[in-house]
Amino acid sequence: MEIFTQAGGAMLSRWGHYLAGVTWIGLLYYFNFVQVPSFAQFDAASRSDAVTKLVPRALWWFRFAAVLTVLTGIAILGFNEQLSGGAYFKTAPGISIATGILLALVMFANVWGVIWPKQRIVIASAEQVAAGGQPDPEAAAAGRKALLASRTNTLLSIPMLFFMGFTSHLSGVYELTPKGGERGLYWAVTLLVVVLIELNGTGRIGGTAPGPTKAYLETHKNTIIAGFALWGFFILFWELLF
Ligand code: HEM
Repeated sequence: MEIFTQAGGAMLSRWGHYLAGVTWIGLLYYFNFVQVPSFAQFDAASRSDAVTKLVPRALWWFRFAAVLTVLTGIAILGFNEQLSGGAYFKTAPGISIATGILLALVMFANVWGVIWPKQRIVIASAEQVAAGGQPDPEAAAAGRKALLASRTNTLLSIPMLFFMGFTSHLSGVYELTPKGGERGLYWAVTLLVVVLIELNGTGRIGGTAPGPTKAYLETHKNTIIAGFALWGFFILFWELLF
């Protein structure tokens, strides 16, 4: 019964990780590439119907798939005994997966800390309107914040998913155990870039109004281009540093 061994556990958690990850990121792409542009063309009554009946269901799968993705990801590390000692995280594959995990955790924080709370305001407002009441005056600003955070997640998902695969499928050909100084520089620059993206995407830098720093979040096309540019930055950095 090989499936009940440690290697089997590592494989089963990987499988669960794929299923949960596909559900989470699939819904993220549905929201960004399909729902937002379609809702812009709906009339008010149809939109309110969809916001009260379709969106809550989609958001349920979205946010609990995010939880399962994180848990199964940690389970893979556990089965592979990569969590103890920290030695793994000094290797190229360790740095690769830590980068993917950093991006995924920022995305997770955006799901539970911004997108879901703001969408609850939007849904509650649509429910009030459906019951014959007035829309919540906060709803438009909440919708804008959720949109910016959701586009930020789309942007981050492009390099995040790269690092998930890169870990076992290419990172080993780079300098296997980079020196402490190289790792320090890598993490200092990586953290700075990720923090700036997050602060801008949540409006803590520059507010939420459209402007030059928000241009890459204004359309999903711009966000996709920016996601590949961010991937380009990472791969160039790996080539130069490791
Ligand atoms: C905090 C969240 C996450 C954690 C802790 C995590 C952890 C991991 C770990 C430990 C691996 C195995 C790396 C290896 O040794 O090959 C992995 C691989 C992978 N992860 Fe994640 N992950 C997270 C988020 C995500 C998300 C959001 C997705 C989205 C789909 C995802 C998709 C994948 C894929 C496709 C692989 C590749 C597996 C392979 O090459 O066999 N992960 N992840």
